[in-house]
Amino acid sequence: MTQALIEAFRPDDTATQADPYPYYPLLRDLSPVFESAFKGQTCWILSRREDIAAVLMDPITYSSVGSATTSMLGRDPPEHDRLRSMTAQVFSRAAVQAYADTILERANRLFLPALERARLEVNSEYASPLTIHVISKILGMREDDVHAIFDLGRDQALADYVNAKRLGRQPSPEAQRRADTLHELILGIALQGGYDSGGVVEQLTRLFHAGELTNQELIDFVTLLFSAGHSTTTHLIGNALYILTQRPQDLERIRTDRAFVDTFLEEVLRTRPSFHRIQRVTTCEVVLHGVTIPAGSVVRLLLASANRDPAFVQEADVFNPDRRGRTHIAFGQGIHFCLGSWLSRLEAATALRVVADHVSALHLDPDEPPIPYTGGTFNAFGFDRLPLRLTLRPAVTQSSSSI
Ligand code: HEM
Repeated sequence: MTQALIEAFRPDDTATQADPYPYYPLLRDLSPVFESAFKGQTCWILSRREDIAAVLMDPITYSSVGSATTSMLGRDPPEHDRLRSMTAQVFSRAAVQAYADTILERANRLFLPALERARLEVNSEYASPLTIHVISKILGMREDDVHAIFDLGRDQALADYVNAKRLGRQPSPEAQRRADTLHELILGIALQGGYDSGGVVEQLTRLFHAGELTNQELIDFVTLLFSAGHSTTTHLIGNALYILTQRPQDLERIRTDRAFVDTFLEEVLRTRPSFHRIQRVTTCEVVLHGVTIPAGSVVRLLLASANRDPAFVQEADVFNPDRRGRTHIAFGQGIHFCLGSWLSRLEAATALRVVADHVSALHLDPDEPPIPYTGGTFNAFGFDRLPLRLTLRPAVTQSSSSI
């Protein structure tokens, strides 16, 4: 019976993607190395925190090469380190503070219409435009170019292209055409100087002209920063606001205790991380828990399951924003640890504070239930649509001028 339940765990099935949590304890307890398939490719799924951490700390046995990208995310040392060092300082904790005012100003501006209507569709009206604005500022790209990239990125043909490349197959002509359009757009911006000075694209273009980046590396670098910088943080803000619909007391604490938002967000990242799984490829045969994983196999690491592993966190399924210390690996671990972790924390904290300053309670819209994000590669976890109704704080009901 239990085995049958585990067998129902299918990473490319929409129902599993919408709510994978019931499977995680079963996988951890009964099948910590679970053979599965994703888009027709055999893979091995790891769910225990200890195993996942060991994989992430061993890039020699578990390589990142094999995805469709030549960016740092799909490279091993020394290429990985060379690429990462090119922009690492831009995303340091201290450096991202330079964007604090921009983030606050934009969050306030985006939230104003929601206040007037006492309703908010989190993704399209708040989180997504906020994170697109911020990453375009950091990259130094014009917003219309960024929106064009964003629209192409949502295209199924582009997802098909990434998948075909990952599986070593020939992309369909339509998928190839979409990818070419995206690549030409990014390369055009770089080579024709269509960027603002002082941004990351200018810096990368200089490195390209100095021969330190190839065409493809430049394209993949910008694509990575854009996609990693946008969708993950959008989902983090959505997941946090969703949790706040069930915890009005935390909304109040965010408003009155400015530091509380930080621990609250860490618990959101632990219990509903916006990046559910990552992957590596074995460079040699590996035996784990008595299971032989051949060389060249795809190993999928369920970060979301690791975050709720009771061997590491007490009462792991309970949302407790007063936990202290490092409780999760939502940003990964080891050499590929998320470059944008401080940026996403700053964006999400600001977005939540703006809401808490003006709203006393958030409610799911009774007429429009949330639509979970599904599809793609089962790495993102959040909502496609999260329509909310807002109970405004009394002072705000009288005047929203404080915004
Ligand atoms: C809630 C928000 C975010 C989450 C949960 C998240 C999660 C992750 C995870 C799990 C990894 C490791 C991937 C692996 O080891 O294969 C990663 C890597 C990365 N993230 Fe994030 N991320 C977030 C936001 C951001 C933002 C805002 C940026 C900014 C551009 C960013 C840029 C990157 C980059 C460049 C890497 C690759 C690092 C490397 O390969 O050395 N991320 N992220």
